[in-house]
Amino acid sequence: FRSHPVHLRHECPDLTSLKELPDSYDWTDQHYVIPATNGDSAISEPVPVIDLNDPNALQLIGHACKTWGAFQVINHGIPTSLLDQAECTTRDLFSLPVEQKLKASRSPDALTGYGLSRSNSFFSKIMWSEVFTIIGSPLDHFRHLWPEDYTKHCEVMEEYEKEMKKSAEKLMWLMLGSLNITKEDIEWADPKGNIPDEFAVLQMNYYPACPDPDRAMGMAAHSDSTILTILYQNNTAGLQVLKKGTGWVTVPTNPGGLVVVVGDLLQILSNGSYISSLHRAVVNQDKPRFSLPYFYGPPAWAQVSPLPKLVGPSDPPLYRPITWSEFLGIKAKHFNNALSSIRICT
Ligand code: SIN
Ligand code: FE2
Repeated sequence: FRSHPVHLRHECPDLTSLKELPDSYDWTDQHYVIPATNGDSAISEPVPVIDLNDPNALQLIGHACKTWGAFQVINHGIPTSLLDQAECTTRDLFSLPVEQKLKASRSPDALTGYGLSRSNSFFSKIMWSEVFTIIGSPLDHFRHLWPEDYTKHCEVMEEYEKEMKKSAEKLMWLMLGSLNITKEDIEWADPKGNIPDEFAVLQMNYYPACPDPDRAMGMAAHSDSTILTILYQNNTAGLQVLKKGTGWVTVPTNPGGLVVVVGDLLQILSNGSYISSLHRAVVNQDKPRFSLPYFYGPPAWAQVSPLPKLVGPSDPPLYRPITWSEFLGIKAKHFNNALSSIRICT
């Protein structure tokens, strides 16, 4: 693929003011990104919605991870008011004038700050989106964005991160629990099952309303390199999951619900039993869309490999051991082929 510097967006006009789709944003001929298997989500089975209070939740989660690599959860314990507030902060952030947002721009080698999605570098066309990435506290960035007014936005996003961390841990144990994996099986968990050094990244995504949504791409197809990702989408749909044998299936919005995506590292840990599905975000003509993914992974030092309980003479390990940081390096080179490049040939 031809690669673009990821800051190219900033040489372009403000997306919200465009009446026509510029050629550099036209993905129509990008067949490797928009597979011909495009399914009709109206006739497909929907992405599972799982009530965490359901006595069968564990089983349902396991099934969803094996067949979809994604599901939605309700009754997850995070107050809807906090989700609403996080969405308001996201909306406020992206409504700032471009010059203001650029005060928090991500520098070329950094992970955090404002800019284009880093995955733009894998494609010759530009995605119709802006992202803002946070690791730890948003304080330094938010101070530049809202010099007078950053505290309330920081408080909301810090609370959101805290709740996401709790939920991510809980969901990880449920997803692993469905494979009979317990805290003793995970070397980076403490005896209580807490993950002290976990590495997590919070992203705020903005997809402006688009004059020609069928030709544009909000976020191109990819799998997440995490253990799991928790994603909140506002009341505008756009996330699609690639379901084997069906095609792209839209994840409907579910007020107060959260989408959970199986990441590549969980596919490794589960020795391929769980799948880190390709997913993408499409855009629409009338409404801007916001989404808030929380990327959750193990401590940087932890070796991730197929869990011993899940391998045996008839189930040889499919992947070699790897740390998350090493895997991120491979992902930055091989993108969607990263998992196959660490596969053990049998
Ligand atoms: C992502 O997968 O990074 C974004 C998906 C979305 O916006 O729904
Ligand atoms: Fe993703």
